[in-house]
Amino acid sequence: MSEPRQILVTSALPYANGSIHLGHMLEYIQTDMWVRYQKHRGNQCVYVCADDAHGSAIMLRAEKEGITAQQLIDAVQIEHSTDFADFLVEFDNFHSTHSEENRELSSQIYLKLRDAGHIATRSITQYFDPQKQMFLADRFIKGTCPKCAAEDQYGDNCEKCGATYAPTELKNPKSAISGATPVLKDSQHFFFKLPDFQAMLQDWTRSGTLQDAVANKLAEWLDAGLQEWDISRDAPYFGFEIPDEPGKYFYVWLDAPIGYMASFKNLCARRPELDFDAYWARNSKAELYHFIGKDIVNFHALFWPAMLEGAGYRKPTGINVHGYLTVNGQKMSKSRGTFIKARTYLDHLSPEYLRYYYAAKLSRGVDDLDLNLEDFVQKVNSDLVGKVVNIASRCAGFIHKGNAGVMVEGNAAPELTDAFLAAAPGIADAYETRDFARAMREIMGLADRANAWIADKAPWALAKQEGKQDEVQAVCALGINLFRQLVIFLKPVLPVLASDAEAFLNVAPLTWDDHKTLLNNHTLNPFQALMTRIDPAKVQAMTDASKEDLAASQTAPAGNGELLKDPLSAEIEFDTFAAVDLRVALILKAEAVEGADKLLRLTLDIGDEQRNVFSGIKSAYPNPAELEGRLTMMIANLKPRKMRFGISEGMVMAAGPGGEEIYLLSPDSGAKPGQRIK
Ligand code: MSP
Ligand code: ZN
Repeated sequence: MSEPRQILVTSALPYANGSIHLGHMLEYIQTDMWVRYQKHRGNQCVYVCADDAHGSAIMLRAEKEGITAQQLIDAVQIEHSTDFADFLVEFDNFHSTHSEENRELSSQIYLKLRDAGHIATRSITQYFDPQKQMFLADRFIKGTCPKCAAEDQYGDNCEKCGATYAPTELKNPKSAISGATPVLKDSQHFFFKLPDFQAMLQDWTRSGTLQDAVANKLAEWLDAGLQEWDISRDAPYFGFEIPDEPGKYFYVWLDAPIGYMASFKNLCARRPELDFDAYWARNSKAELYHFIGKDIVNFHALFWPAMLEGAGYRKPTGINVHGYLTVNGQKMSKSRGTFIKARTYLDHLSPEYLRYYYAAKLSRGVDDLDLNLEDFVQKVNSDLVGKVVNIASRCAGFIHKGNAGVMVEGNAAPELTDAFLAAAPGIADAYETRDFARAMREIMGLADRANAWIADKAPWALAKQEGKQDEVQAVCALGINLFRQLVIFLKPVLPVLASDAEAFLNVAPLTWDDHKTLLNNHTLNPFQALMTRIDPAKVQAMTDASKEDLAASQTAPAGNGELLKDPLSAEIEFDTFAAVDLRVALILKAEAVEGADKLLRLTLDIGDEQRNVFSGIKSAYPNPAELEGRLTMMIANLKPRKMRFGISEGMVMAAGPGGEEIYLLSPDSGAKPGQRIK
């Protein structure tokens, strides 16, 4: 036996300004399965994460919602933790980058870098919002593309023609926060001298720490020469102030990866067997792996190892990069209902379905992974329900009826149990190398063999024959043993199925090595359904609900919109305003929509015609009939939207943060349905 390994694992820290969606879940589920596999093997494996709580986006969103940044990040931390727990993602610690541990470590690392001469300062010129009194990051500046003249483009690239440029090249620039015209202003910035680490990075990125595709991409950047990295931001900023530099803050990406260390340090205070230095000191023997998406490779494979090296810490053993999630072959889309939040999924479907599907499709590459919803239903139903659980449900009844629940002694098919035993190292290797798809293929191959053997023996036919009772019991006992082996192999992916199976099998929590033994002369507990088939209607309900989320967020203007992408405060041209057909509308009918939590169906009279409008205001008007006869305002020329419940032909106007606080607007009395609002 080799020594148990000491392994520290992280997933990227999700931003604390939005909800977790199924794209994020690809990463957290992948990491969790790998961690569970390591624990299953008896290694000391610790999985830490945190919310990434800093930055201007979080500051501005809190401001917009009328709460403090601390209140916002506290609320989001609870939401994120619950989503992860319900997807069976089991962190040893889920902390926050806005924590004391992180403040201390960030300051300490910065000071070490500074004292070793790796920090430079110089003045830079940037756009500044004179109204908000703050410098503007590129994404907070909008204007006309200098190449193709498309309007309303962000400060660093044009969505129309794909050009990239400096924000100063934009024509007619506007602050996306206040709408004011930004001015150029100088300020002193701090830079991390990344070029000091060129040689180290050249070696490190080629030392087996990265997938080949990632190492090749990095080689391009390294060959082009590294630039100094701007690590400071001016106040107002939500983050940590830089030691000895009042008014200057660490850029969010400086303290975010240090958040991995901080979360671990916070855990060490509760778990005496864990020693911070044993994991982070330069001579550490522990392994350190970061799981990340392909969009944040430069931060993890260039800046981060250089910071660690410069500050005297160990570097990661590996950076495990995955691709992006697509749904039905396309980028997740709000209007198609494929931008699915973790919570929306959980409202309709069990987490293990998705865990299995991701496992079945994840290999060690950086390719994008497609969640095809039809294939998802088909694969989960045929593999998990049709193959794995089926073995137990076919065999358990005969053992309970014919032998009082006792599995008889013996091995009815040694060639089969030998094959299972022989497959184990390959499955282990697939897990270890994150080739989950191969692991699932091999496990399902074994399930096929077990099912074929049982079908061939046909205990249900034997049971009807005289004198075949012993054979029935022998076949079914082995069937249950094979089922148990499959559960052992699948446990990192399907922890709830495994614990339900342990209850049925009447055994202690299964570990990897248990696959080497068989249950003999062992009493089972009664069998109950371990997993049910996915009903495709539930998948449909989930995508409908995702569309409904969108409709609800479009109806409640303040606080509930997609942050900052289309700031309500930005100025618009008069023509844009004039193009909106605003009318007085009489609510003829208001009723709840069956199957939709948030929507009311409104029948509106706008003078010359009636309109059917779905509106996400139900939480504020639980007795919708009280709205009938009331006047309100509607946008009458909004493009009709097809929803599950029908077509929505316009939008009514309401104010408020959402939930119970939604206030439908009304004109003064005397206004007539159909009158235009000018
Ligand atoms: N806060 C940074 C990470 C800091 S780590 C020191 C961040 N946050 S994020 O919320 O945008 O993303 C968190 C992780 O989810 C990233 O690894 C990102 O690649 C991953 N994903 C976000 N959307 C994704 C998909 N659609 N598909 C797959 N992974 C996705 O980046
Ligand atoms: Zn353009």
